[in-house]
Amino acid sequence: LGYDEQYHSVNGAIGESMHVFIRSGFDFICPESGVINILEVGLGTGLNALLTAKSAMGRDTMVYYHAFEAYPLDNLITGQLNYCQQIHGDNLPAVFEGIHSSSGDTYKKLLSNFFIKTSVAKIQDAILEKEHYHLVYFDAFGPDTQPEMWTSDVFEKIYESMITGAVLVTYCAKGIVRRAMTEVGLKVEKIPGPPGKREISRAIKP
Ligand SMILES: C[S@@+](CC[C@H](N)C(=O)[O-])C[C@H]1O[C@@H](n2cnc3c(N)ncnc32)[C@H](O)[C@@H]1O
Repeated sequence: LGYDEQYHSVNGAIGESMHVFIRSGFDFICPESGVINILEVGLGTGLNALLTAKSAMGRDTMVYYHAFEAYPLDNLITGQLNYCQQIHGDNLPAVFEGIHSSSGDTYKKLLSNFFIKTSVAKIQDAILEKEHYHLVYFDAFGPDTQPEMWTSDVFEKIYESMITGAVLVTYCAKGIVRRAMTEVGLKVEKIPGPPGKREISRAIKP
């Protein structure tokens, strides 16, 4: 793979994902009922998907989760992750297994209200449905490692795929990243990061 970067901070991966993606994104925008279409850039270990499925439990909302991953992790690696020893919930081990055995063809049902599709492609090469997603988890490696991910070209494509009022969350609040998002028309705010961490970004398509 060649990226000398962590998938999550070693300490508190779960807490960080909960803060950045679940509380600042999913809980912030998820409607009481109806449908929410989520786009994730960088499925990685599937932690964000797992936490979203857990958060969907007990809700009336139907969650459609579409993740892109350019370099899928080997099942040997995902099989060794012990997230389900730390995140408890009925059927979560099966959900985690389901996340990593899903494909980009059709949505796979993992819970009565959680469906997932995982496309193996670079987001730069993806053809995204226009005006479709209500929520975007932008979880690429950082701009120092992968500057090509944080460009206005990429954000423009994502912007077009979002409905009006949709929200994008990412752990990065660097000026260069906020400017690239602003350039394509997103309204970007800095919000507090997880405890002891820098600020993060939340952007809305006005
Ligand atoms: C910070 S990690 C994602 C962590 C992940 N969301 C999780 O819950 O474990 C970034 C991911 O982006 C993927 N990636 C790298 N380049 C990409 C690209 N051009 N398009 C989509 N994904 C990419 C990497 O392979 C890596 O899995």
